[in-house]
Amino acid sequence: MSSGKPTILVTGGAGYIGSHTVLALLQAGYDVVVLDNLVYGHRDLLEKVLQIELVVGDTADRALLDQIFQTHDIAAVMHFSAYAYVGESVTDPAKYYRNNVLGTLTLLEAMLAASVKKFVFSSTCATYGVPEVVPIPENHPQNPINPYGATKLMVERILSDFDVAYSLKSVRFRYFNAAGADPNGLLGEDHNPETHLIPLVLLTALGKREYISIFGTDYPTPDGTCIRDYIHVSDLADAHVLGLEYLLKGSDSEVFNLGNGSGFSVREVIAAAEQVTGVTIPVQESDRRPGDPPSLIGSSEKARKILGWQPQYPSIKDIVFHAWQWHQQRHKDEC
Ligand SMILES: NC(=O)c1ccc[n+]([C@@H]2O[C@H](COP(=O)([O-])OP(=O)(O)OC[C@H]3O[C@@H](n4cnc5c(N)ncnc54)[C@H](O)[C@@H]3O)[C@@H](O)[C@H]2O)c1
Repeated sequence: MSSGKPTILVTGGAGYIGSHTVLALLQAGYDVVVLDNLVYGHRDLLEKVLQIELVVGDTADRALLDQIFQTHDIAAVMHFSAYAYVGESVTDPAKYYRNNVLGTLTLLEAMLAASVKKFVFSSTCATYGVPEVVPIPENHPQNPINPYGATKLMVERILSDFDVAYSLKSVRFRYFNAAGADPNGLLGEDHNPETHLIPLVLLTALGKREYISIFGTDYPTPDGTCIRDYIHVSDLADAHVLGLEYLLKGSDSEVFNLGNGSGFSVREVIAAAEQVTGVTIPVQESDRRPGDPPSLIGSSEKARKILGWQPQYPSIKDIVFHAWQWHQQRHKDEC
């Protein structure tokens, strides 16, 4: 039954951040249509857990997009779908430019053809490259150091130009490290392959990995390991609802960092995981990886001020605890 609130198209809604945002949209009373090609997404999360319509298809499929816009009265698009493996983007940049840039361009053109002009975009702190100041503000220079970051920056530029030329209004969210899971245990992170620290640490606690690697222990940080800004995925999801409502009330295009505002080192994350799980987590110390800055922390003051965003779960213990609940549940039937 319709809630009376507009319908939102969510691309990549079967993925990690997208599915949590779908849940937040449903809780806020929106109708949602998800488009996901399921290359990385999980059908069960949408159909069994959230029980909503999933269109299995690709953002590069213009005919499918036209059909979606014709059959649904879409008020805005939230665009999560992309490939996001930094290392792979270096070895296979064509895959990234094709999906992340061309796929997005096709989607934007289909939106314009359907006169849908509100767009929420998943950008990234990887567009900044090596930070000149920390916490990084939104007006920090954008010099990505890998093709993944470059694809996201290109889309940001396309969005600026589309605003000028076609009045397509967008909110561009530059996320720091999404982490954690739905506090009620409905959804969580299930990337394959997994590259993010918190799930890797928890998979080690579950005995699914032998050890967790620490890349570099001689950084100029208090404990020598890299510091990153982990933001709870449900806080990210809430920011998306606020960003959507900001656009729906007719506001201008804007860019916002979404981060915790404080960072945690690799060793602090492992210590939090040991505390939450009660398991001693084996570590292996290795050399630094090229291109890893010592500290990446974002300033999210702008989102707090303009959108009224207030993260509910800034503590690393809460983030790890919610992720742990999810991982235990997700892997309970595996031997
Ligand atoms: N996870 C993070 O920490 C992080 C940080 C910064 C930015 N981001 C960005 O946020 C977005 C979501 O990230 P995530 O971690 O949820 O990733 P994810 O891989 O879990 O979700 C992406 C979803 O998009 C789908 N998809 C990919 N290409 C598609 C296409 N062409 N057509 C339809 N569906 C397609 C995948 O199947 C997947 O379900 C991405 O755009 C990513 O670049 C993520």
